[in-house]
Amino acid sequence: MNTVAIQHQRVLSGMRPTGLLHLGHYHGVLKNWVKLQHEYECFFFVADWHALTTHYEDPSIIEKSVWNMVVDWLAAGISPGSAKLFIQSQVPEHAELHTLLSMITPLGWLERVPTYKDQQEALKEKDLATYGFLGYPLLQSADILVYKAGLVPVGEDQVAHVELTREVARRFNHLYGREPGFEDKAEQAVVKMGKKNARMFRDYRKRFQEKGDQEAIKVARALIDSQQNISIGDKERLFGYLEGSGKIILPEPQALLTPAAKMPGLDGRKMSKSYHNTISLRDDVDTVVKKLRTMPTDPARIRRTDPGDPEKCPVWQFHKIYSDESTCDWVRNGCHSASIGCVDCKQPVIDHVLAELKPIQARAKEYEEDMSTVKAIINEGNENAREVAHDTLEDVRKAMGINYI
Ligand code: TRP
Ligand code: SF4
Repeated sequence: MNTVAIQHQRVLSGMRPTGLLHLGHYHGVLKNWVKLQHEYECFFFVADWHALTTHYEDPSIIEKSVWNMVVDWLAAGISPGSAKLFIQSQVPEHAELHTLLSMITPLGWLERVPTYKDQQEALKEKDLATYGFLGYPLLQSADILVYKAGLVPVGEDQVAHVELTREVARRFNHLYGREPGFEDKAEQAVVKMGKKNARMFRDYRKRFQEKGDQEAIKVARALIDSQQNISIGDKERLFGYLEGSGKIILPEPQALLTPAAKMPGLDGRKMSKSYHNTISLRDDVDTVVKKLRTMPTDPARIRRTDPGDPEKCPVWQFHKIYSDESTCDWVRNGCHSASIGCVDCKQPVIDHVLAELKPIQARAKEYEEDMSTVKAIINEGNENAREVAHDTLEDVRKAMGINYI
């Protein structure tokens, strides 16, 4: 595969180190990352600067969480042989790109991002009227664009941030992709594709620019990607020429919506630290058993003989994740007819959660006893990340005309 194609296939995602990971992270994010690492070139990083935007008053939790988080990633099956793992603050290029992008980002774009007001509202006890917090999604844009990532696996709540990233990239390319003689250079690149390809390219370009034909732009991109004999610079020009802008320096990423594996919490709401309804990946057997035993059930089942309705019970949500069809039938029938008690009903869930956590915790323990290996993994990831980020910043500085040294 050529470099341009790799760029568009590159996956990047990050997680904020603000506490212990729980089953919600495991089912909602980590299992997906484990799958993606075999399908794409993946960059996964610890977003410690993002954590600081909300935890600047007491950053001690960040320091504690960084290494726990990396250990949990590895324990959950993220493989440093497949994915590059690193820490945001170890790659200062994120900050440099953030600064440069801030020059071209209208204030209104940031103020209108829904998480800005929502989070300020949700975290009322914190003073989030800071410059850093307003810039949160732009820092995220820099995280993504500094690797020219094509795909960003995120949950629903982060889609607006990827959308902002696309707008910022588009604005950047529009402002700085206009190299002198762009049209001529692009035309020369078209000719370099050969007669037949050039004719097809012109046809697709026309169809896209005149009629907004999405299919045409897709095939045209694939056509550019498949060219063996033209330089990366020319490819970037062709991508830009195709869409009518200038050269594409920062490609627009796409959100890869995490399959909605909504892990319920112990109270039936989404599992989240702020609801205090989590099972942590580090909880020991007794804690897990106690949490599940005391978890609420259908309030209509006051006595053992009262029938219940699984739809009104958080335990049922766990069965839907963990239990096979026959166990689910047993729960439905037993609950409606009051032939099973809630304690019986919870037992298979307890067994499954314990069985799921056991190998994760065993691997986590191994890594914890060998932190030098974990640190070496991160060191290597930091270096790999810096290399890519360095190249992007060179392109960016050049495009902005600040490469005069
Ligand atoms: N904001 C993300 C979250 O809270 C974390 C994050 C930071 C991120 N930078 C990113 C995710 C870049 C994807 C890509 O979940
Ligand atoms: Fe919930 Fe099971 Fe009790 Fe029914 S029997 S209320 S599904 S725990």
